[in-house]
Amino acid sequence: MAREIKTVGVVGLGTMGAGIVEVFARGGFTVIGVESTQEYAERGRGILQASTDRAVAKGKLDEAGQAEMLGRISITTDYADLAPADLVVEAVPEIMSLKHEVIGKLEDVLSEDAIVGTNTSSLSITEIAAPSKSPGRVLGMHFFNPAPILKLVEVITTPMTDPEVTETVRSLAAGLGKKPIVIGDRAGFVANYLLFGYLSTAMRMYESGHVSREDLDTAMRVGVGLPMGPLTLMDLVGLDVCHHISDVIYGHSRSPLHAPSTMLERMVLAGRLGRKSGRGFYTFAKPGSGQVVDDELTPTPAGGRDVESVAVIGSGALADELVTRFEDGDFVVTHVTDASGDLSGLGSVDLVVEAQDEDVDDETAEELRDVDDLFAELGEVTSPGTVLATANTYSAVALAAITGRPEDTLVLRLHAPTPNGQVVEAGRTIKTSQETVDTVRTVIKRIGAEPVVCKDRTGLVVDAMLVTHLNDAVRMLDEGYASAADIDTALKFGLGYPAGPFAMIDQLGADEVLAVAEELYSGSGGFQTHLMPSPLLVEHVLLEEPFTGGE
Ligand SMILES: NC(=O)c1ccc[n+]([C@@H]2O[C@H](COP(=O)([O-])OP(=O)(O)OC[C@H]3O[C@@H](n4cnc5c(N)ncnc54)[C@H](O)[C@@H]3O)[C@@H](O)[C@H]2O)c1
Repeated sequence: MAREIKTVGVVGLGTMGAGIVEVFARGGFTVIGVESTQEYAERGRGILQASTDRAVAKGKLDEAGQAEMLGRISITTDYADLAPADLVVEAVPEIMSLKHEVIGKLEDVLSEDAIVGTNTSSLSITEIAAPSKSPGRVLGMHFFNPAPILKLVEVITTPMTDPEVTETVRSLAAGLGKKPIVIGDRAGFVANYLLFGYLSTAMRMYESGHVSREDLDTAMRVGVGLPMGPLTLMDLVGLDVCHHISDVIYGHSRSPLHAPSTMLERMVLAGRLGRKSGRGFYTFAKPGSGQVVDDELTPTPAGGRDVESVAVIGSGALADELVTRFEDGDFVVTHVTDASGDLSGLGSVDLVVEAQDEDVDDETAEELRDVDDLFAELGEVTSPGTVLATANTYSAVALAAITGRPEDTLVLRLHAPTPNGQVVEAGRTIKTSQETVDTVRTVIKRIGAEPVVCKDRTGLVVDAMLVTHLNDAVRMLDEGYASAADIDTALKFGLGYPAGPFAMIDQLGADEVLAVAEELYSGSGGFQTHLMPSPLLVEHVLLEEPFTGGE
C-alpha cells in the first residue's frame, strides 16, 4: 500500500527543520529545504554543516560521506523549487495561520498526489488539514528533538487522511531507521500528552515545597533512570513552550492532572524561560548556556552529626542489603535479627534503621516485634541525637509520636539501582530537625547512594511521580488511543526512557503499582480523580495478565 518517495521537501530550517533535513539526507533522499529569507536559509545551512561536522569528528560519518550527504541537499527561499517533491514536511513556528499559509503555498506548487506532513507539537492536525483542497494527503509527521538522534516519529492521522498516505509515511519513517507509531489526532498525541501530565505532577510537588528542585530531579534521573529530571527538562524545552503545550492539553483533557500551574505562568511572565533566557527553575551561566550556576536556592553541603555506628533491626532481604551497604560504607554495624529481647545494647549507636520483613507469612509475622512497641523502646534506650528510622512503609508522623523524639525520627526508602545510580529517599515530618536531615543525607552519600529528602507523604517522590505517570499511561491504553506497544515505543524512543511504562509496570509488578496508586488516591481524599487507579490496571492485577507479554 506504500508508494515510493524519492524527493523530500522541508519547510522551515530552524531547530526541528534542519534536523529533519539531515535525517532524510542521511537516508539517501534528495532534499529541498525552504526558508523564509536568504539569511535564515544560510543559518539553516550552517546548522546542517555544524551537525554533520560533529558526526565526522565523532567518527560516525567520513568526510566523503558528509560531502555526498550535503550534496543531496539544496536550500532555497522559493517554494516553486519544491515542485519535484513527493513529500513535504513543514516545520515552521507553531502558529495556526502560518501553517495554513504554508499549506496553501504548497498546494500551488506540488503535484496532486504529493504528501504534506506537519511537524506540529500541539496544534490540531485536523484543523491544519481542514481548509486544504485535498486534506486526504495531509497528516502529522512529528519528529522529536534532536531529530537525527531520537527515533520516535508520531504519524498522526485525521478523519480525512488517506490510508495509503499514512502507510507510505509510516514505512518511509521505518526505512529511515525510525520507530514510527500511527495514532489519531488528539492534543499532545502520545508522548507529549503523557509527558506533560508527568511534568504537571512535578511542578505541583515543587510548588508545594514537598521537595527541592535538585532532589526532585535526582529522584527521577537516578531513582527511575530517566535521562534527566523534570525541572531540568523543562528548562531545556523552554518554559514558554511548556506553558503553551500544557494549556493546549488541559484545554482538551480538563483533567486535574493537567491543571495549569500558577508558578509556571508567573515564571513565563517574569521572563524566566529556562536555558534560553539564562534563568528558569535553575540559573545558567548566560542565556543559551547549559551550565548551571549557583543561586540563592542552591543547597549548601549537608554536614550534620558524626555517625560511626549503625544498628539494623530485622531479618530478610531489605535488612541484609542495608547491613551490607552500611558495612561497605565503613560504619560499625550491629545487626539485630531478633528484636524481641532487650534493646538496651543499642544505647550508644548513632543511627537505628528498622527493616523487619513485611512480606512474611502470618505465623512468622506473629514473631515480629510490633513496630509501635519497638519504636517506643528505641525512644527510651537510645540517646537524644540518635537517628531513628524505618525502611518500611510506616508513617514518620506516627513513629515520631511513638518515639517521643520527633526531631530524630524519619522514614527511609531504598530504591533499586538504575544505570544512573541509586536513590535513598528520606521522608521528614515538620518536627524532624535539620541536623537529623543533614546527618542522614551524609550517611546516604557514604553508602554510595543519592539522597532525596521530602515531606513524608504517600509515595514520597519516586513512587508518587512514577505511579501517577504509569497510571496515566494505562488510562490512555484503556481509552483506546494507542496500544501498549506504541505507548512504550513513544516514551522509550521519544523521551529516552530506559523502558516504556508498560514494561516498567510488568517489571515492578502491576500489583505493587496498583497498591501505591490506591494509596495515592485515598491519600487525596478521593478528590484528585486523576489519581484514581485505572480500572484496566485493576483488571490486569486481578487476572494476573502482564501488559507486555511478559518479556
Ligand atoms: N523545538 C522542538 O523541540 C520541537 C519538537 C517537535 C516539534 N516541534 C514543532 O516543530 C515546528 C518548528 O519548531 P522549531 O522549534 O523548529 O521552530 P524554529 O523557530 O526553531 O524554526 C522555525 C523556522 O521556520 C522558519 N519560517 C518561518 N516562517 C516561514 C515560512 N513562511 N516559510 C519557510 N520558513 C519559515 C523560520 O525562519 C525558522 O527558521 C513547530 O510546529 C513546533 O511545534 C518543535
